[in-house]
Amino acid sequence: MLSFTFSLFISLVVSHVAANPRPGRQNGTIRWVDCHENVPQPLQSTLNVTGTSFAGTLPKTLFCGEIDVPMDYTRPFDSATNNITVGFAMNRPRDPAGLLLYHAGGPGLDAASEAWFTALNISSDSAPFNLLQDFDLLAMNTRGLQFSNPLNCSFNTFFNNITFAFPSTKAEFDQYHAAMSKLFSSCGKNSTPKGIMNHTGTFEVVQDWDSIRAALGYEKVHFAGVSYGTFVSMEYVARFPERVGNFVLDAAIPHGAPFQEMITDQVGAINRLLLRADAFCLTDLTCPFHKQGNGSVVAAWDTLLARALKAPIPAAGCGEGKGCNTPVTPTDLRLGVSVIFRANPDFPLFNIALNESLHGDASLFAYQQQGDIRESIVTPLLCADFQVSGDLRTWEGFHNLSINSRVNDPHKIVYSQMWQIALMCGAWPFAVPAPSTISTELPLMLITSDFDLNLPTELTTFAWELTPKSVLVVRHGDDHTSILFPPPITPVQSIAVDFIRTGVLPGASSNEQVTVYPPGSTRGPIPGAYDVPTGSVAEDTSSIEDIR
Ligand SMILES: *[C@@H]1O[C@H](CO)[C@@H](O)[C@H](O)[C@H]1NC(C)=O
Ligand SMILES: *[C@@H]1O[C@H](CO)[C@@H](O)[C@H](O)[C@H]1NC(C)=O
Ligand SMILES: *[C@@H]1O[C@H](CO)[C@@H](O)[C@H](O)[C@H]1NC(C)=O
Ligand SMILES: *[C@@H]1O[C@H](CO)[C@@H](O)[C@H](O)[C@H]1NC(C)=O
Ligand SMILES: *[C@@H]1O[C@H](CO)[C@@H](O)[C@H](O)[C@H]1NC(C)=O
Ligand SMILES: *[C@@H]1O[C@H](CO)[C@@H](O)[C@H](O)[C@H]1NC(C)=O
Ligand SMILES: *[C@@H]1O[C@H](CO)[C@@H](O)[C@H](O)[C@H]1NC(C)=O
Ligand SMILES: *[C@@H]1O[C@H](CO)[C@@H](O)[C@H](O)[C@H]1NC(C)=O
Ligand SMILES: *[C@@H]1O[C@H](CO)[C@@H](O)[C@H](O)[C@H]1NC(C)=O
Ligand SMILES: *[C@@H]1O[C@H](CO)[C@@H](O)[C@H](O)[C@H]1NC(C)=O
Repeated sequence: MLSFTFSLFISLVVSHVAANPRPGRQNGTIRWVDCHENVPQPLQSTLNVTGTSFAGTLPKTLFCGEIDVPMDYTRPFDSATNNITVGFAMNRPRDPAGLLLYHAGGPGLDAASEAWFTALNISSDSAPFNLLQDFDLLAMNTRGLQFSNPLNCSFNTFFNNITFAFPSTKAEFDQYHAAMSKLFSSCGKNSTPKGIMNHTGTFEVVQDWDSIRAALGYEKVHFAGVSYGTFVSMEYVARFPERVGNFVLDAAIPHGAPFQEMITDQVGAINRLLLRADAFCLTDLTCPFHKQGNGSVVAAWDTLLARALKAPIPAAGCGEGKGCNTPVTPTDLRLGVSVIFRANPDFPLFNIALNESLHGDASLFAYQQQGDIRESIVTPLLCADFQVSGDLRTWEGFHNLSINSRVNDPHKIVYSQMWQIALMCGAWPFAVPAPSTISTELPLMLITSDFDLNLPTELTTFAWELTPKSVLVVRHGDDHTSILFPPPITPVQSIAVDFIRTGVLPGASSNEQVTVYPPGSTRGPIPGAYDVPTGSVAEDTSSIEDIR
């Protein structure tokens, strides 16, 4: 469980805010632009966009807009020296029921597509928005991304000769940090306007949101967002409480949680998922370990890791030019588990990977540099928010984080993404606000799933315990996030949609799929991995097996 040593209920305003008034705020003006020329990157291939333009017909409710905002909100807007443009897409029905803001997470995931999906009435992976088509849906791309002053960093350059996923020695740590430093300084050198790297964080993003809200003429805004979007929305809650309507925060990453706590929780979460893979195998006739019964998947992992620690395991499908490394080291295996279990864990794939590896081919666990977040827009956006300071910037301090998380790591998986964040952001050279918890008396809805790996469920509890008027909705199942599933609508999705529509928090309830904890109550223990069903009821999916 998370614990922290500083006071629990600090005021609504976080400390770095008080020091920075907002002279740059104003009711700016929106420039409506032609959506045909502003197609979100992830949709360009779906819509057969050639060049930059879409030639087909677009729905009348789809709008694309831009607004000029201060690069640095602590100084007044100035068209020449303190001005950047952020872009967004909206679905704008006639007589909207309110303004609903969406954040796609990441940080760095495209939000604009969601407004397109909704306007085009394409059932995307997020059924709730199909049910909220009568709201003005605002989907702004975070500054640093397409439409919003994109950063220009030299990816795929500085890690070319770094083949390991995370450092196991001081020399490797230094090599990793050096590459990270070069990457960050490339962002600083190539991005415009000059100075932007000190102003790409959540501190600014929430003001961009509020600038658009004001320009649209709304007094209040509702919010539905996942993952990293919860971090940004909590900051909005702290800074603009008078603007907060009905906020749904799904899979929370709280402000002010100490790195060590987050890492220890995440190492615990991946160990839980190993047990979930075992529980899944018990009901999966095609699982290679099915006949061996309870505990066999866990035993197979322990055996495999012990073997790899003696000698790396070949990966027949990998090697020079194949995009993955061979042989597979213990480090690769540990990262590989996380890759298969993160987001929507693929238990059938994991179980097959284990069996094949024990038969001498560890290709399914092999490290793929291309897929590593270290060389993506995620890093500069994330590191602008997460201060890694003091000892944590040294090998010893960084390494200690994983030594201390061993208490939660019976299966010696070691790696966690939070730990990688501490690693990557330890080389960040630009400004970062000091960490601080956020507490509010506003009634919010927080949602989590028991077996989330990306943001372990303890983190949502941490955030919820700082918001005494809020409800906690716990989905008993797997996956990172609970509102982004395709139709048909799930119980948790209906709960979220009803709250956004009415502002009425649900009362206490509990069944096999979901437990609702009302404000001020205490969350029960996280269920055992074998005590909650796996399969479609837990929202399990697989790339290799049809799970019904
Ligand atoms: C894109 O092209 C494919 C094949 O050429 C076609 O089937 C599809 O309908 C097109 N999509 C749109 C949105 O035009
Ligand atoms: C902000 O800068 C952009 C790009 O240089 C320019 O087109 C725009 O007019 C400026 N905005 C204002 C309000 O001056
Ligand atoms: C969107 O599509 C669904 C079926 O997928 C349909 O029931 C609904 O009426 C459509 N909404 C609009 C606004 O066209
Ligand atoms: C990796 O490449 C960089 C230059 O990009 C060089 O400075 C460094 O020494 C190389 N490291 C190794 C281990 O080869
Ligand atoms: C990004 O920076 C590189 C290196 O300075 C430059 O060549 C390139 O044109 C820049 N890209 C954009 C889109 O500005
Ligand atoms: C960021 O701010 C620091 C001072 O806090 C300054 O030294 C540095 O030059 C700034 N960096 C950029 C890229 O503007
Ligand atoms: C616009 O700005 C004025 C003055 O700063 C403020 O009182 C008003 O609330 C703003 N309007 C909206 C919709 O935010
Ligand atoms: C385990 O993997 C081996 C090698 O790929 C394969 O021959 C065997 O059929 C697999 N076992 C099961 C039960 O799937
Ligand atoms: C499997 O074994 C674990 C202990 O290792 C136990 O907690 C769990 O209840 C067992 N599950 C089943 C379905 O037998
Ligand atoms: C690392 O942990 C050890 C043992 O707890 C402690 O003595 C040492 O000061 C720590 N070092 C750093 C840099 O945190």
